[in-house]
Amino acid sequence: MCLRGIHKLGMCKKLRGNGVNMNIIYQEEKGIFHLYNDEISYLMMVLPNGHLGQLYFGKRIGEGKDYSYLLERMPRAMSSYVFDEEKNFSLAHIKQEYGVYGTTDFRSPAVEILQKNGSRISDFQFKDFAITKGKPKLPGLPATYTESPEEGMTLTVFLEDPVANIRLELLYTIFETGALARSARMINDGEDPVHLLRAMSLCMDLPDSDYEWVQLSGAWARERHVKIRKLEQGIQAVDSMRGHSSHEHNPFLALKRPTADEFQGEVIGFSLVYSGNFLAQAQVDTHDTTRILMGIHPSWFDWKLETGESFQTPEAVMVYSAEGLNGMSRTFHKLYRERLARGYWRDRVRPILINNWEATYFDFTEKRLIEIAKKAKECGVELFVLDDGWFGQRSHEKAGLGDWVANPERLADGIQGLAEKIEALGMKFGLWFEPEMVNKDSDLYREHPDWIIETPGRHSSHGRFQYVLDFSRKEVVDRIYHMMEKILGGAKVSYVKWDMNRSITECYSRALPADRQGEVFHRYILGVYDLYDRLTSRFPEILFESCASGGGRFDPGILYYAPQGWASDDSDAVERLKIQYGTSFCYPISSIGSHVSVTPNHQVYRNTPLHTRANVACFGTFGYELDLNKISEEEQEQVKEQICFMKKYREVLQFGDFYRLRSPFDGNVAAWMAVNAERTLAVVGWYRILCGANMPYGRIKLQGLNEEYSYEISGREGYYFGNELMNLGLVTTDYASGEGVDRDLCTGDFDSRIFVLTAKDTDQ
Ligand code: DGJ
Repeated sequence: MCLRGIHKLGMCKKLRGNGVNMNIIYQEEKGIFHLYNDEISYLMMVLPNGHLGQLYFGKRIGEGKDYSYLLERMPRAMSSYVFDEEKNFSLAHIKQEYGVYGTTDFRSPAVEILQKNGSRISDFQFKDFAITKGKPKLPGLPATYTESPEEGMTLTVFLEDPVANIRLELLYTIFETGALARSARMINDGEDPVHLLRAMSLCMDLPDSDYEWVQLSGAWARERHVKIRKLEQGIQAVDSMRGHSSHEHNPFLALKRPTADEFQGEVIGFSLVYSGNFLAQAQVDTHDTTRILMGIHPSWFDWKLETGESFQTPEAVMVYSAEGLNGMSRTFHKLYRERLARGYWRDRVRPILINNWEATYFDFTEKRLIEIAKKAKECGVELFVLDDGWFGQRSHEKAGLGDWVANPERLADGIQGLAEKIEALGMKFGLWFEPEMVNKDSDLYREHPDWIIETPGRHSSHGRFQYVLDFSRKEVVDRIYHMMEKILGGAKVSYVKWDMNRSITECYSRALPADRQGEVFHRYILGVYDLYDRLTSRFPEILFESCASGGGRFDPGILYYAPQGWASDDSDAVERLKIQYGTSFCYPISSIGSHVSVTPNHQVYRNTPLHTRANVACFGTFGYELDLNKISEEEQEQVKEQICFMKKYREVLQFGDFYRLRSPFDGNVAAWMAVNAERTLAVVGWYRILCGANMPYGRIKLQGLNEEYSYEISGREGYYFGNELMNLGLVTTDYASGEGVDRDLCTGDFDSRIFVLTAKDTDQ
């Protein structure tokens, strides 16, 4: 069902989702759009100059009222004005939906279009709108989706610049929760090509700047650390210009009220469903209006739009939470777990895997792999993953990438033979690829030296001796697809780890003309999405795990194709607390690849107890990254118990509601928990980094339980009410707190505990 055009509508027409709690109304007299559900309201207004203005995004407010008073036009000194003779309409001070630069607004714009005469001025006038049930697909791009028309409603606002002859369509989808998805589309109706120099997915002006800015930033081996600072006048931004979303900054930001915390207060989260160069920016002007921009990074972006062509931006998702950061995260988790991730594995608990990388690196034989797999099977592991080094001449990092054919010197019976041997052990078999890369020492490069991204006549920088294949070219993607298809179709492969280990430099495609070189970064990512799409369609039951030297491309775009991602190359339990805590701000626990590895740890050389390594990894997809033959028999028994535990509780751990309880960024203790939908089962993880002398008593207030249920707690006597555990807390005091230390119960530094809470005597 579709309503289109204001002229067909009365003063206040609505289209309801089928009895569900969402709605979009348009008040024709005032030109006001109101998108709302039980949790949120989003208000926009057609401005006197025909542009679209922003009035409100926040907690649900009443429908049908005249909110046009929110359009404040008070004149300011030194302003320029849009209307002749009228001194109260300057875009400089008005909150907008898709701001343009240079026609009285001087802030960073949402769009910039270079036209034939050299002008970059745009003037998008409201023309029409359409309201549809459900959510349309974005061609060639990952995006959130609805499975039935009742799950969401989409408003498309049609605008037009009559001078440049460009149409602009702004898309808004409201779901049943606090999330709203946005994107923009430009269509060239003119007779000449234009160049899009900037086309953001989201632009939104907030009326004040009383916020703290939250970003997820870091580097290789310490991805997505939480950084919070006060929002100030001027521009604050995170971005990537590396050709992938990057270890350094995640395409995410949140604004929280200074008084908001994990559990209460107003938070707005912004997340970009994209894996390439991005910009996420807040610009606070000197009247304290805050403009948020999010989308493809405008630097090095120049998209030529020929007559009749259109350009669709990636999608941005906004979440409003009145329940603090945890509330924001739960909304993102639900949407991204259920309506961004797709396919066979979306709702299934993830297999417990063993990966040979840290056990062998490149130094393996088939015999050694089988030994690792056998012991893993004995301990209960379900999936064996063969990492880098199985193909071409890949016995070191200087050769082989691009030649996706098994190396017969290492695997005499090929991938098929190895997969059969692993399956015969009663395990599934998984395989590593790095599809986007090539070594110069490879047959593929020798055949097609012109297939790499490099600028002719200039030095080509390598990264780990590898070069990036030009995925903006269809023939390159086709060739890689056929090689991978042959391997995956010719053997029983149940899992693929898709790695990507370098950023793009000297960006240039030999296949594109000079005036299209600004398209390469985006076309590259479209090529990656195309390959993912073809492989996941051809092999719908293969579980894809993304990876980019750990978490260098851990973003919502990739999550659409690969429901889990290797969160970081850093497998140290203490480092992982911060990485997984930060990752959980936006991404569901079912997407966080997490393994137990050896000690001393290979990234930070720290020794942590085996139980703590597992207690951290179990809040994720869970697996092992070591040779279990090389640990003691006693430790092997522990591993068996860990795997039994994970099999018993992975449903709640991976798909339950997740609550962060205590931040590893704030002190010596971290804690989090997962609760099932019925509130009858919860798992709490408690972690103490360093042990002190004579430490204080400890309690942690839990979340998400049923106030009235009584719970039994593993390892504890008696029962505890939900309201008790949530208000006075779970006692975590241990033997390290005072005298009379029982040495057997105290592991000292890097200790942790898991508490399982089971509700008794409920009707559930
Ligand atoms: C980087 C990944 O993050 C590692 O897990 C491993 O797969 C190596 N690449 C292999 O080269």
